[in-house]
Amino acid sequence: MKILVINGPNINMLGIREPGIYGNQNYQVLLTLIQEWGNELDCEVECFQSNHEGAIVDEIQQAYGQFDGIVINPAAYTHTSIAILDALKSVGLPAVEVHISDVTKREQFRQISFAGMACEHHIIGQGLDGYKLAMQYLCEKI
Ligand code: DQA
Repeated sequence: MKILVINGPNINMLGIREPGIYGNQNYQVLLTLIQEWGNELDCEVECFQSNHEGAIVDEIQQAYGQFDGIVINPAAYTHTSIAILDALKSVGLPAVEVHISDVTKREQFRQISFAGMACEHHIIGQGLDGYKLAMQYLCEKI
């Protein structure tokens, strides 16, 4: 069981960016937690973060045949990127969308999720624990 966790733009700024919304824990802490959760769940996990849409598309394509599932927080690209939606559909891997904040209670422009249309499960507003819940979901399902 191998899971790829993808994070989009500015997730590398966790701990600095808008702590009232995203919390005080930095990206390095998130990476450590994800590895710990992977160990607990007995699944191999790799993390990827990019501020570039095309790099995220490339990473999703390369996951084909290499990973059993994808956890993705496309960050701002959630609300704009049909390319990421198409990439997720192209590889057809089970995918779970994660948002740290509760986007449903935020600005109107955050109410659409293109990437989410290719995801079978959505975890929104659970903070960093959302990644754990997403990994648990995939492990139980696969
Ligand atoms: C986010 C929500 C997005 O709207 C925002 O652009 C982000 C982070 C979240 O995890 O809550 O960068 O995906």
